[in-house]
Amino acid sequence: MRKFSRRSFIQSAAAGAAAVTLPFTARSYADIVGSNEAVRIGTVGFNGRGGSHLSSEKKEKGFRISGLCDVDSKVLEVRANEYPGVETYTDMRKLFDSKNIDAVSIATPNHWHALAAIWAIQAGKDVYVEKPVSHNVSEGRRVVEFARKHGKMVQAGTQSRSSRLGIAKAVEYVQAGKLGKIKVARGLCYKRRDTIGKSTVPLKIPAGIDFDLWCGPAELLPIMRRKLHYDWHWVWNTGNGDLGNQGIHEMDVARWFLGEQELSPSIITVGGRVGYIDDGETPNTMIVYHAYEKAPLLFEVRGLAAKSYPQGVKEQMDSYKGAGVGIVIECEGGRVTVPSYGKAIVYDTAGKEITTFKDVAGDSTEAHFTNFLKACHSRNHEDLHADILDGHLSSALCHTANISHRLGQQADPQTIEAAIKNNPLFSEAFDRCKQHLIANKVDISKEKLTLGMPLKMDPKTETFPGNDAANAMLTRKYRAPYIVPDQVS
Ligand SMILES: NC(=O)c1ccc[n+]([C@@H]2O[C@H](COP(=O)([O-])OP(=O)(O)OC[C@H]3O[C@@H](n4cnc5c(N)ncnc54)[C@H](O)[C@@H]3O)[C@@H](O)[C@H]2O)c1
Repeated sequence: MRKFSRRSFIQSAAAGAAAVTLPFTARSYADIVGSNEAVRIGTVGFNGRGGSHLSSEKKEKGFRISGLCDVDSKVLEVRANEYPGVETYTDMRKLFDSKNIDAVSIATPNHWHALAAIWAIQAGKDVYVEKPVSHNVSEGRRVVEFARKHGKMVQAGTQSRSSRLGIAKAVEYVQAGKLGKIKVARGLCYKRRDTIGKSTVPLKIPAGIDFDLWCGPAELLPIMRRKLHYDWHWVWNTGNGDLGNQGIHEMDVARWFLGEQELSPSIITVGGRVGYIDDGETPNTMIVYHAYEKAPLLFEVRGLAAKSYPQGVKEQMDSYKGAGVGIVIECEGGRVTVPSYGKAIVYDTAGKEITTFKDVAGDSTEAHFTNFLKACHSRNHEDLHADILDGHLSSALCHTANISHRLGQQADPQTIEAAIKNNPLFSEAFDRCKQHLIANKVDISKEKLTLGMPLKMDPKTETFPGNDAANAMLTRKYRAPYIVPDQVS
């Protein structure tokens, strides 16, 4: 195929050259290999995270902010004033139809990610989609298939993957065998999540928000909480709990160290929403065991502080071997602690620091957008630091854990201990979890935790053989017309 620069493409189209019969469209931009002109980017959803997208897109000269879309007219207006002259939309489908947009970045709530990405791909755009890239396992896999079929670049918003001198170097170090075999990869999400309060009447949706579009593929239900934005994380209709919020970052890095490119073959969990009664449904306390054959991935969520503090006193969070929100990779010859998005410290078995890998400067989100831009030009998805396949696998590890939890049963501590007694790593994590809850004055013989359903997964088909209840939770009932297609087209 002949390769055109964008300019020569437009000129030859205008001249009606025989070789070029199509007008210049966003779809055809993707075929322009090596173009060094600005990629015209549209951003969808910017109450919170989308604001960082816009800052990164603004700083990166290779992007031109060309479209803005949010269903909340107040949120949209603020940004429209910042970027005068930029196309603005309430309905993302119209943004995707625009011929003036080459790529999109998506920072809506989780329940929209997969469908928005698929629609954008179908419209010929490259996509940067926030984490988790999906709200359930099946739709995440579908995004991968659409991306490949249409040859689109799809970057997942797991920006730790762009820590090239930090985490990436530590992954190389471990995978080169410098610390011997991995014994366990631990993901930690000790992040304070306070009560969201308890409402007695449904939220009155503020004028100016298109609530039907906000719900999209989710069920259109009254909102039984005080805030529409952000707190959707804590109800299953729209969110995935903290495992699929902060936790997906650490899940992804833990899996990266392990080098696993499939879902885990078996899963067991313990967890609950304890310490307060509020409108949230998702656990604020959780232990997840992904039994990969070579070495397990053990994940812990703690939304309560290190202990119960008197009102007004600054709370501290727990940490484990130097990480609170981070990763600890325990190997035969030492360990790596990843305490942040851009740094990894290597210790020997005696706990003495051997070396530290860290990014020199800069923001990992900016680096992640720059990497996305590079792939938009190279047209090679292997150039992406967080290709959609990795985004899907790490998101799905959160989803399968949540399925185990949601199909589980509340149990007293003795029943849980008996069920996990043959798993020393899990038992040790549960012991520490109990101490943490006691320090928070949570009595789990009264406020019971849920012992998750043990699940067996066939990683080749990404299904749970013979388990109809679990298989049903791999997808959702979509609400027309917001339906993730079964078939890739
Ligand atoms: N990578 C990171 O470090 C990071 C950090 C924070 C959040 N996130 C992710 O970003 C996403 C957004 O999080 P947030 O905290 O900004 O949430 P938020 O609820 O504060 O903002 C979401 C915005 O999306 C808009 N929106 C909802 N449905 C829409 C639709 N159909 N079309 C257009 N706009 C729509 C809402 O009106 C709102 O303005 C989440 O998926 C979250 O997991 C990632």
